[in-house]
Amino acid sequence: MTIQENCPAAATNGERATLNYQGKPTDFPLRHGSIGPSVMDIGKLYKDTGCFSYDPGFTSTANCASKITFIDGDKGELLYRGYPIEQIAEYSNFLATCFLLLNGELPTNEQFRDFRRTISMHTMVHEQMTRFFTGFRRDAHPMAVMVGVVGALSAFYHDSTDISNPEHRRIATNRMIAKMPTIAAMAYKYSIGHPFIYPRNDLDYTSNFLQMCFAVPCEPYIVNPVVARALDRIFILHADHEQNASTSTVRLAGSSGANPFACIASGIACLWGPAHGGANEAALTMLQEIGTVERIPEFIAKAKDKSSGFRLMGFGHRVYKNYDPRAKVMQKTCHEVLDALDKRDDPLLKVAMELEKIALQDDYFVSKKLYPNIDFYSGITLRAIGFPVEMFTVLFAVARTVGWIAQWREMIEDPEQRIGRPRQLYVGPSRREFPL
Ligand code: ACO
Repeated sequence: MTIQENCPAAATNGERATLNYQGKPTDFPLRHGSIGPSVMDIGKLYKDTGCFSYDPGFTSTANCASKITFIDGDKGELLYRGYPIEQIAEYSNFLATCFLLLNGELPTNEQFRDFRRTISMHTMVHEQMTRFFTGFRRDAHPMAVMVGVVGALSAFYHDSTDISNPEHRRIATNRMIAKMPTIAAMAYKYSIGHPFIYPRNDLDYTSNFLQMCFAVPCEPYIVNPVVARALDRIFILHADHEQNASTSTVRLAGSSGANPFACIASGIACLWGPAHGGANEAALTMLQEIGTVERIPEFIAKAKDKSSGFRLMGFGHRVYKNYDPRAKVMQKTCHEVLDALDKRDDPLLKVAMELEKIALQDDYFVSKKLYPNIDFYSGITLRAIGFPVEMFTVLFAVARTVGWIAQWREMIEDPEQRIGRPRQLYVGPSRREFPL
């Protein structure tokens, strides 16, 4: 089988690629995005050739056309609606980023005021949901609680689950963005046996989240502006990331017409895995295990030894084969937080910086283009702010909710979208008779 990608026919004949299979050429249209690689539209591959494509992990397969986020993994570039992540992280805030991701443009001052007001109108959760929490064990992982409680939102807010109604989609969007921090903070408070702290709508999105996590009813809580800004930036950095595993999960769940709360719950479940959102937790645990700079070579050697099954957590990325642009912002944010909280002597920071230095010079990591990803420094930062490791992925889920919902809405509104239903290469037994 050969693919004549740049054959004259492809260049001149309405841009098509020709696939030769069993001596029979078949043409497939090429489709071009605004930037990034073009795609071969193989939707008719099976009908025309009797063959499926095989691509475990979707390394070469686009599942949708999207206008939201773009990654150039070789350049180390990430764009939200065209804007570079570094610029958004520097000049914008998380709620304005939500508006941008959802609507395609940055908000005007008036639009931002309206959006902020709307979101703040939805920050409380149904009071009966508090009883839902008490059904969980106190030592449950907060991600387990998140999967359950967010899934249960559809039982409390079924007046916004008609996915064919744009108004329902809009209200469900606002509810998800507004209630996610409240639910996340409740999961945390429940795990440590503290009373739930209600949202305060006079505070900005991230400061309100911090007070719901760290305030107690018996004394005033003052939000540290450096910490609030840092967490807001962490939320911006995690807000969307193209068709990653959890976003694809949300799209796949949504493709059957499932309600938005159920779809987001499926995204949370996927995010929990250590190869995805669980990596910041795993990265911090690894840094703690390494403990001192002297032990780094031992761990580097282990990471290079395939039989050990060990990987340097916080290193490598499916798409970025150059420095993750979010990791650069994260590293700076990490230093800012440790300075502001007077924790710059954190031994884990020393281990992290030295590990990064050594790995970036090591042939194994250089040749495989394994650079630190966003999770490498986010764990140290979140721990310094006061979050326990179990909460790290929960914070990621709070931030990624807007990406999931923006992508889900785009999918619902896309006339080309159909139920997601991959095919398979069956390698099990062929038909046989049941023994009587
Ligand atoms: N440490 C050591 N070796 C590694 C690492 C690592 N962290 N990551 C990849 N490799 C090696 C693999 O062993 C493989 O080697 P080989 O070609 O000799 O077989 C090669 O690099 C390619 O690795 P793959 O697993 O094929 O790459 P893939 O794109 O499938 O995986 C992933 C990407 C899952 C992120 C991987 O790099 C990893 O497990 N990293 C650690 C976990 C992590 O930090 N995840 C966070 C991802 S970012 C996010 O979700 C926000």
